[in-house]
Amino acid sequence: MHRRSLISGLAMTAPMTAAPALAEASPDSYEAAVQQIWRPLAPAGGLRELVRAGTLAANSHNTQPWRFALAPDRITIRPDFSRRCPAVDPDDHHLFASLGCAVENMVQAAPICGFQAHPTLDPAASQGAGLALERRQPAGNPLAEALMRRQSTRSDYDGQTLSSAELDQLARAGSLAKVECRLVTEPARMTAILDYVVQGNSAQMRDPAFMAELISWLRFNDRMALERLDGLSTRSSGRPALPAWLARRLLPWVMTEASENDSYARQIRSSAGIAVFVAPSNDPAGWIAAGRACQRFALQATALDLRLAFINQPVEVPSLRAQFAAFLGLGERRPDLVVRFGRGPTLPPSLRRPIDAVIDPA
Ligand SMILES: Cc1cc2nc3c(=O)[nH]c(=O)nc-3n(C[C@H](O)[C@H](O)[C@H](O)COP(=O)(O)O)c2cc1C
Repeated sequence: MHRRSLISGLAMTAPMTAAPALAEASPDSYEAAVQQIWRPLAPAGGLRELVRAGTLAANSHNTQPWRFALAPDRITIRPDFSRRCPAVDPDDHHLFASLGCAVENMVQAAPICGFQAHPTLDPAASQGAGLALERRQPAGNPLAEALMRRQSTRSDYDGQTLSSAELDQLARAGSLAKVECRLVTEPARMTAILDYVVQGNSAQMRDPAFMAELISWLRFNDRMALERLDGLSTRSSGRPALPAWLARRLLPWVMTEASENDSYARQIRSSAGIAVFVAPSNDPAGWIAAGRACQRFALQATALDLRLAFINQPVEVPSLRAQFAAFLGLGERRPDLVVRFGRGPTLPPSLRRPIDAVIDPA
């Protein structure tokens, strides 16, 4: 069982599809929440709809660490440091990468909502990013259509390879804003990366601070998930729920270092390849760029009906990160994000807080 899908149950549930827009009432079931959260983009929805697209991006531990400010021709996205994860992400690298994922979703959603979006960053980007918006006729965009189906799918894939045309499309999508997207598909090199993932997972599972932080973001059942609308829910791993008190007690028995490492081995061996994203600079601007590139890669993968999941242990554990950079021949550059990809079934989507919870009052 994956550490980030821990105690998330035992049986697969049917994938859920997006439905027409519903009012933002509090949903009373996970299925209703998914229908409301992942409904199609409304072309007339304006800036708030772009913000909604942003909130649907991948983000570390599903903490949703962002705040949005709206102006007539601009959206600003700022870090929400109250949602930082100091154990796994002490320098806020993942937090800023998550902002980059949201920026890319908004860029891709903009044509559907009648805008062209130009991302802007101040040189250090420590305050986040902006989107300058120009009005346009609403237009289709295949990557925006993939936005509502993208997910982090932490399951086994089918073990098949991809065509070179598919790999080219993925590599192009992931090479954005001067970020290098390196694809690894040779079995021997994938096995070498698996070894880094296993070493990283073992180090993290032996670290009480990492485990305490991870557990604080686990949502063990639908009630918990619906109350918080954030964190790592049981459903998005396709497994039934447990009462929180029972889940916490069972944790040390069901989530062992060995069982987690076995899962990673199976999952990586069933994948068609691994992508590593390397930003041009090791600072918030570079981390945002890495997030944008990774999110565009994910949207392109989804458009090709592929799945993907993050396997970031080699870049999260500092001592391993340097070895991993050397393995990749990166010199002084920092490897930012690592994902595996391939074909496989979908799982139920994760939840998000409503946009009123993340938009600054006017
Ligand atoms: C910067 C970043 C780091 C992440 N690291 C991991 C990871 O190491 N392992 C993992 O399983 N998921 C990881 N995720 C995926 C998030 O947990 C996931 O995006 C979030 O739970 C929302 O789910 P969704 O992507 O299915 O919408 C990461 C996402 C981001 C943006």
